[in-house]
Amino acid sequence: NHIQWDMQAAQKGGYKHFMLKEIFEQPKVITDCLAGRVDWNRMEVTLPELAALPVPKRLHIVACGTSYHAGMWGKHLLESWARVPVNVEIASEFRYRDIILDPADMVLVISQSGETADTLAALRIAREHGVKVAGLCNVVGSSIAREADAVIYTQAGPEISVASTKAMCSQMVLLTLMALHWGRNTGALSETVRANVLQTLKKLPGQLETVLPAMRDEAQVLARTYSKAKSFFYLGRGHCFPLALEGALKLKEISYIHAEGYASGEMKHGPIALIDPDFPTFALALNDELFPKVKSNIEEVQARRGKIIALTNPGVELKVDHPWSIPDAWGPMAAFLVLPALQLFSYETADYLGKDVDQPRNLAKSVTVE
Ligand code: G6P
Repeated sequence: NHIQWDMQAAQKGGYKHFMLKEIFEQPKVITDCLAGRVDWNRMEVTLPELAALPVPKRLHIVACGTSYHAGMWGKHLLESWARVPVNVEIASEFRYRDIILDPADMVLVISQSGETADTLAALRIAREHGVKVAGLCNVVGSSIAREADAVIYTQAGPEISVASTKAMCSQMVLLTLMALHWGRNTGALSETVRANVLQTLKKLPGQLETVLPAMRDEAQVLARTYSKAKSFFYLGRGHCFPLALEGALKLKEISYIHAEGYASGEMKHGPIALIDPDFPTFALALNDELFPKVKSNIEEVQARRGKIIALTNPGVELKVDHPWSIPDAWGPMAAFLVLPALQLFSYETADYLGKDVDQPRNLAKSVTVE
């Protein structure tokens, strides 16, 4: 028992939990995912894994849990930069639906473990339909990696914590590269966008490395303030909507506080009825073109005396209980700074409440049964 404990402590590299270690590994994960895939001199992306496959007429992204949220986020980039229509679906729904697949479509399954039963079943259904399947996987040689026509490895390194953190970050980097790769092939991608994305990605690991300690401090303060909440809303619009879903999932998974992720604009269609001074909202209010809309959604919550934590950027004018400013990053690349803030807030809440962060009750790292 003692030996096992020492081994674990050594593997945690000085961190209290694997989850915390993995959150702090994200700058390196981004660097590793980009290595060999971006030629920084020529500012070009190469994804040899996809070279043999034509740009799909339509892409179906199929996944579960956190990987599904990464897919939802990726849709925004793939549609906007490559103009490839994307349908994102939960694997357990996809597999039991009378799905319409065209031979020119492609299915992209996203799975950290490469062993999730529903995702694997979805892959097999797609192959039975004669559709090409690409897999975005972290575990080398996993079932999904073996059965897909093309596999892109996410290179996040082993993820031990049941709640997924760095794997999502790596999936988002690869989805970004796929959007750039296909955008180049379809001719839909503008030079300006390409340059902005690549320049942002290049400085991201350094930027994240610098902000993570302060982010953790802020998360700790907020976690203490809000740890008694029974329920939380997470609100976001556009590419921040999937991040709101992920923020809520992380909080549920490890702190057991009920949380719902919602598209900000949909709040008025029901959920706002729940708001009172004891039902706080975590709003994603970045300095982008959707900010005025998010701001007015926040005001609607405040009018019902709901407390607000708002993740925002420097210089943004927003009167909320707890503004939490994170550095600016170009367009949807801001997600790489939003994600760790959400992860750290959940982590600090769960740890403060004394929960078993790395091994939450009722959950498994990889779900190999239906
Ligand atoms: C389980 C894990 C989640 C994970 C999901 C999908 O539910 O607890 O953290 O997001 O499976 O896993 P996958 O390995 O397919 O990405």
